[in-house]
Amino acid sequence: MPGIVLLGAQWGDEGKGRITDLLACNMDMVVRFQGGNNAGHTVITGNEEFRLHHIPSGILNPSTLCVIGNGVVVNPEVLISEIVELNKKGINTENLRISGNSHLVMPYHIVLDTAGEQSLGKEKIGTTKKGIGPVYADKAYRTGIRAQDLLDLKIFKAKLESALKLKNAIIEKVYNLSPLDIDDIFEKYKIYSEKIGKYITDTSFMINDYLNEGKMVLFEGAQGAMLDIEHGTYPFVTSSPTIAGGASTGTGVGPKKLDKIIGIAKAYTTRVGSGPFPTEIEDSTGEYLREKGHEYGTTTGRARRCGWLDIPVLKYSAMINSLDCIALTKIDVLTGLDEINICTGYEYNGKIFENIPPHQTIMHKCRPIYSVFKGWKEDISSVKEFNNLPLNTKKYIEEIEKLSKLPVSMISVGPERNQIIIRDSLDFDSLLKDGKKPLLVL
Ligand code: GDP
Ligand code: IMO
Ligand code: MG
Repeated sequence: MPGIVLLGAQWGDEGKGRITDLLACNMDMVVRFQGGNNAGHTVITGNEEFRLHHIPSGILNPSTLCVIGNGVVVNPEVLISEIVELNKKGINTENLRISGNSHLVMPYHIVLDTAGEQSLGKEKIGTTKKGIGPVYADKAYRTGIRAQDLLDLKIFKAKLESALKLKNAIIEKVYNLSPLDIDDIFEKYKIYSEKIGKYITDTSFMINDYLNEGKMVLFEGAQGAMLDIEHGTYPFVTSSPTIAGGASTGTGVGPKKLDKIIGIAKAYTTRVGSGPFPTEIEDSTGEYLREKGHEYGTTTGRARRCGWLDIPVLKYSAMINSLDCIALTKIDVLTGLDEINICTGYEYNGKIFENIPPHQTIMHKCRPIYSVFKGWKEDISSVKEFNNLPLNTKKYIEEIEKLSKLPVSMISVGPERNQIIIRDSLDFDSLLKDGKKPLLVL
């Protein structure tokens, strides 16, 4: 140990990639544990911008081993292009490992995701159309194809034949689309197997060995708590466990080895796709946040819906994840606003809810209750110490701490590596054994 989990506390795109990259310099290993290339994690270093979809955001640190855990679903074509892109930018990917138990996104998953969304019409989930739902469904249905099958093409072909028979029947008979050709798929995946076969291994032993040796392991979440398949705003969720428990099931590490759990939260809220969003701002302030915060999807380019910070969401996220602290991102985007709202609860039919309501209809129809804060005009993008922030910024952060009952241990004031305020409450040192290097060397 120590094992540190970093995950989205809202509806995704909170800045997980940016914070993972920041911490990676002190990590021996960074592990992704769920999701697939529906994720888009951005890391900015000087003039370079990296958009990672499968590969852990620790990859820019050459000495960190980067693991794609069993809970991740892998689209080999996209993964290969990510590797090529990184290599072109001079980033070595030899320290990448892929769990043999991770499931593969197949072309029919993408067809079924897209056709399924189309047939839902107005009721659509607004998925990324990357085949994520269908691949996790096949995993549960026990008809999935795993990364390790790429190492035995005879088995791979047999599994493909059996899966494709049913998928093609659905593609043709339900959706009226052309069937997929088995030989085409097989030939492509044969090439993928040659390209990524060397990375595929049993990663669960490797991760446990690192933890047992006292090495630092960071578990990097994708999406966010409110998109969790069990605890999110179902059915407007993704198809994997995005919460801290997923770091255990998605890697093969027991929950007792997860020592610290960091929730990444934006200083406001965004959401992509359909589903309830009580604090959504539909006027020009929402537009202002979208433009100033560049709130357009890293994976799909879609405009993100923008809203105020939602405390019931943060409290719920703290509960289902056992959050130890918050890393607050994008607070610089709020600079310049005269007033900033924080949602402290919801009202529905005369009843007040301080927590996530028990029925989704209420979440859809409730009215947010706001506390209003005075904004600040000063540029905070190069502030390095909490005490040097404007008074109103400090008041806003302190109110988040009070309402969420969590310390705000990191404050990100811009997308660059050095635009960060680290506070004592991060307290990684207590997790380190004697003689280990101090955690944060920036
Ligand atoms: P992720 O999916 O959680 O990794 O987040 P994304 O990368 O999809 O979206 C976060 C975006 O905000 C990226 O473009 C980051 O470069 C950017 N970003 C992260 N932290 C900050 C911050 O503190 N301030 C500003 N202005 N941008 C940030
Ligand atoms: P990162 O890791 C934000 C959303 C989609 C849709 C729902 C289901 O970058 O934070 P899916 O394709 O997963 O079946 O879509 O989940 N979604 C995300 N929203 N950030 C993400 O990832 C997301 N990944 C999926 O927009 O509403
Ligand atoms: Mg993202």
